[in-house]
Amino acid sequence: MTEKVIAVQELSKDFSLGKHKSIHILKNISFSAASNDFISIVGPSGSGKSTLLKCLSGLLRPTNGSISIDDMDPYQLSPSQTAKMRRTTLGFIFQSYNLVPALPVFENIVLPLRLAGKQVNRASVEQLLKKLNFTADMDSFVTTLSGGEQQKVAIARVLVTHAKIIFADEPTGAVDANSKKIIFDCLRTLADNGACVIMVTHDIELAAMTDRSLVLRDGQLIKRLTNPTASEILAEIERG
Ligand SMILES: Nc1ncnc2c1ncn2[C@@H]1O[C@H](COP(=O)(O)OP(=O)(O)OP(=O)(O)O)[C@@H](O)[C@H]1O
Ligand SMILES: [Mg+2]
Repeated sequence: MTEKVIAVQELSKDFSLGKHKSIHILKNISFSAASNDFISIVGPSGSGKSTLLKCLSGLLRPTNGSISIDDMDPYQLSPSQTAKMRRTTLGFIFQSYNLVPALPVFENIVLPLRLAGKQVNRASVEQLLKKLNFTADMDSFVTTLSGGEQQKVAIARVLVTHAKIIFADEPTGAVDANSKKIIFDCLRTLADNGACVIMVTHDIELAAMTDRSLVLRDGQLIKRLTNPTASEILAEIERG
C-alpha cells in the first residue's frame, strides 16, 4: 500500500528585490507524491527547481499555497517539531553538498545520527561508502576531497538516516558515469523499499528512468510525464 506523503497546492514563491520590487519564481505549483514514488524534476537552469525543493522541505517559506509533508505543514510546526521532522522524516541532498568543513568524512556522514541521539556504526558507514565506490579515506577532511567525492559524502549522509522522504538536488552532477549509475541505483532501491524520492536533475537519461517527471519552466509546472522517455522529456524542456 502506498501512502501519500507529499501534497502541494497552488504553491508560489516570490523573492523581494529591494523595497518595491519582487520576482515571481514559482507559480501555482500543485502535485502530490507517495511512498515508493521516484520522481524527477527537470527544467532549464533558473526555472526554479532548487527553490521548489527548498520550499517543499521546510527550508524556504513559500509566498502562497499549501504544503503537506507526511501529513504536516512544515511551516506550521514548532521549532522542536521542525527539528524532529528534519531528523526523522526528511533527507536533503543539496546541490552544493552543504558539508561541514571542520569535520572529517565519517563525522559528516553520521552527523544526523548523532543529532538524533542514534547509534553510530563505523563498519556500516564503511560498507555504505564502499557501495558508493568512495575510495578516499573516511578520516580525511571533506575540504580535501574532489567534488564527486564530496557529493558521495552528501549522499551517504542522507542514506544513513533511512528517511521517508528524500529530496536530492542534482545528486549526480559532479560524478563520473559509473558513480552516477551507483547513486541512481541507491535512490531507486530506497524508493522500491518505501521511500518517496524527489530528484532534480539535468540528466535526461536519468530522469527517463524515474517513475514520473515534472517539467518546470519559468517557475511553472508545465508537464507531468508518467514513465517518461528521454525524448518526451527533452521535447518538453525544449518547447519554447
Ligand atoms: N534568494 C534569492 N533571491 C532572489 N532570487 C533568487 C533567490 N534564490 C533563487 N533566486 C532566483 O530564482 C531563480 C530560480 O533559481 P533556482 O536555484 O531554483 O533554479 P534551478 O532551476 O535550480 O537552476 P539550476 O538548474 O541552475 O540549479 C533564479 O533566477 C535565481 O536567480
Ligand atoms: Mg538548482
